[in-house]
Amino acid sequence: DRVLLVGTGTDPVTPRLLEDIGGRAGQDGANSTAERIEILWAGNEPDAAAHLAFGAALGQYRFLKYRTPAKDKPVTGEGEFVIRTPAGDAAARSFEAEWAPVPRAVTFARDLISEPGVEIYPESFVARTREAFAGLPNVRIDVLDVPAMEALGMGGILAVGRGSVRPPRLLVVRYDGGDGNEAPFAFVGKGITFDSGGISLKDEDGMWKMKYDMSGAAAAAATVLALAGRRAPVNAVGIAALAENMPSGSAGRPGDVVRTMSGKTFEVISTDAEGRMVLSDAVWYAQQQFRPRVVIDLATLTGSVRIALGDEYAGLFSRDDALAEALRKAGEASGEELWRLPLHPSYAKDLESPIADLRNSGGSGTGAGAGLGAYFIGSWVEESTPWAHLDIAGMAWREKEALPTVPEGASGFGIRLLDRYVRQSAP
Ligand code: BES
Ligand code: ZN
Ligand code: MN
Repeated sequence: DRVLLVGTGTDPVTPRLLEDIGGRAGQDGANSTAERIEILWAGNEPDAAAHLAFGAALGQYRFLKYRTPAKDKPVTGEGEFVIRTPAGDAAARSFEAEWAPVPRAVTFARDLISEPGVEIYPESFVARTREAFAGLPNVRIDVLDVPAMEALGMGGILAVGRGSVRPPRLLVVRYDGGDGNEAPFAFVGKGITFDSGGISLKDEDGMWKMKYDMSGAAAAAATVLALAGRRAPVNAVGIAALAENMPSGSAGRPGDVVRTMSGKTFEVISTDAEGRMVLSDAVWYAQQQFRPRVVIDLATLTGSVRIALGDEYAGLFSRDDALAEALRKAGEASGEELWRLPLHPSYAKDLESPIADLRNSGGSGTGAGAGLGAYFIGSWVEESTPWAHLDIAGMAWREKEALPTVPEGASGFGIRLLDRYVRQSAP
């Protein structure tokens, strides 16, 4: 038997710290052959056991589906976790009802993101989402196929999907846990199941990881899964804008002009700026269809946000100070942190096109790349709609050094953050 002592320092113990401690144990458990790992917690912080277990569940995650177990290597990560706190059974009940659905939703998202592009394309993303929601009450799933999107004039998402043999989809997952006439939270995700760049083809360095370009869509759907799983007393809708960005004879071209559902047009400068193209229709649809209390989009939108913020913060863009602050706070509390970046009015100039209403990129390769992407999406959001854009390109995939609650690979970023944001929002 081995005993590991964890010092928590002198600052007050927060849920986030408890989750990190649990996560550390979860990581060790995943690498250990121990049959049983016990965490003893003597403090009486409310829900301490729940947060320890929450973190452990996240830290334990591994994607081993395609690995053949080596015969001469002992099996790890099969041990049982036992968490002992003064709160006893009440803690177990609180974990099951209030918290466990969140790491379960993160696991769903991480699995989807980890799967290669050959497995996950718009239709299979939809099928997996249906499976994950099966049996949950107050949930309704609608899927727009190509004819449905054509009928609505969704030229943005259709233009991106055209080059692939896998047709695009708009997936809409609705959860009604609140009052019947209450406006829902709307979470809208970029769901590029593989981003080759299209005709503006990426080079090999940048391309192979682009299976995770649907991380925003996975987070949007999984956030609703978490809310439905814990029976949150709110209404919410998750929208996944799903397409595969491929080059082919039927692909959209640089220079094409696209008309979106709102009627607004844009000129394609780069087919590799496809996230904003699919989101232009998805955020517009969210507003028209649901009149939501807030629209929050999540997207692995730009390499440039990684240059600005690395893997410490996702980029937060909003015209609404109160919403930005609420999200920043939820980020701090959940451990999925955000840093606000500007939406300068001058970006409008950079996005001017001589023949269309906008262009999809500033063109020159210089300038505020993440801001321009955000500004483009914001051009499809009505001034009266509280809106935030989260550029998660630096956060969606954990390169090396795992964090306690984030193993290497797909992070599932955004679900814990948005679940916390919903908890902290007034009804
Ligand atoms: N999916 C990429 C952004 C990305 C890059 C995500 C690296 C994760 C890691 C996105 O579609 C893209 O290609 N963006 C371009 C935009 C440019 C063409 C305006 C970029 O960031 O270079
Ligand atoms: Zn992309
Ligand atoms: Mn791209």
